[in-house]
Amino acid sequence: MSNKKLRRVGLSQELCDRLSRHQIVNCQDFLGLSPLELMKVTGLSYGGVQELLYMVSRACAPQMQTAYDIKMRRSAELSPAFLSTTLSALDKALHGGVACGSLTEITGPPGCGKTQFCIMMSVLATLPTNMGGLEGTVVYIDTESAFTAERLVEIAESRFPLYFNTEEKLLLISSKVHLHRELSCEAVLQRLESLEEEIISKGVKLVIVDSIASVVRKEFDPQLQGNIKERNKFLAKQASLLKYLAEEFSLPVPDQI
Ligand SMILES: Nc1ncnc2c1ncn2[C@@H]1O[C@H](COP(=O)(O)OP(=O)(O)O)[C@@H](O)[C@H]1O
Ligand SMILES: [Mg+2]
Repeated sequence: MSNKKLRRVGLSQELCDRLSRHQIVNCQDFLGLSPLELMKVTGLSYGGVQELLYMVSRACAPQMQTAYDIKMRRSAELSPAFLSTTLSALDKALHGGVACGSLTEITGPPGCGKTQFCIMMSVLATLPTNMGGLEGTVVYIDTESAFTAERLVEIAESRFPLYFNTEEKLLLISSKVHLHRELSCEAVLQRLESLEEEIISKGVKLVIVDSIASVVRKEFDPQLQGNIKERNKFLAKQASLLKYLAEEFSLPVPDQI
């Protein structure tokens, strides 16, 4: 993935610091420069720069894998394969819950409960693993200003009264859900592009986008010529960013339509 940070592709700290002083922070910034420009910035020889270019492009280009590799990698993963929804019929239909390491779309008419479901999944992801949770934090990207901390606490208290029996536990859960209000397509994309570091540093185990449809509806009128193409471009880009994050960090990523 071209927005992968150079620090994560095996370059030395010193080299990363030097590059970041020239606003070269991710693979895309690096690969967009010519060998000559890179020689100037890094102070390396032509051969040294070629080696780096090879290393960086290998790190961000999707590698060929066989179906067998994927199957073996999945079965060797220590993280759980699903985050249970705690709704037995839904878990059964989903073969265990919302899949970790992949993108799940939640669709339905307005008012059917998509946002309530996402808030409930946020509670579940913060629970200890012995209660079926992921013991992590959550990134909640809210494009409709629909999320409220009060509702999160209310759902936590009513679903797990024995666990959330103190004020501290309720405060702790609200500090584990990191809310980003992004009100345009561009802002959503920018947030997704910069999420990698937050996922690592804050121990994020669930990423939610609630909802993609509302920003798309606001910005792309399907009646106008050219809009469908632009809309599809945005949807494809955000889906590929979310898929990358889900696969790279083995996260469940519900994305509301
Ligand atoms: N704070 C709340 N307490 C109780 N019910 C709520 C609350 N907020 C929303 N609801 C109800 O939950 C239902 C689903 O709402 P919501 O999840 O926002 O729908 P969607 O995201 O699918 O449009 C609605 O019928 C709404 O009245
Ligand atoms: Mg909603």
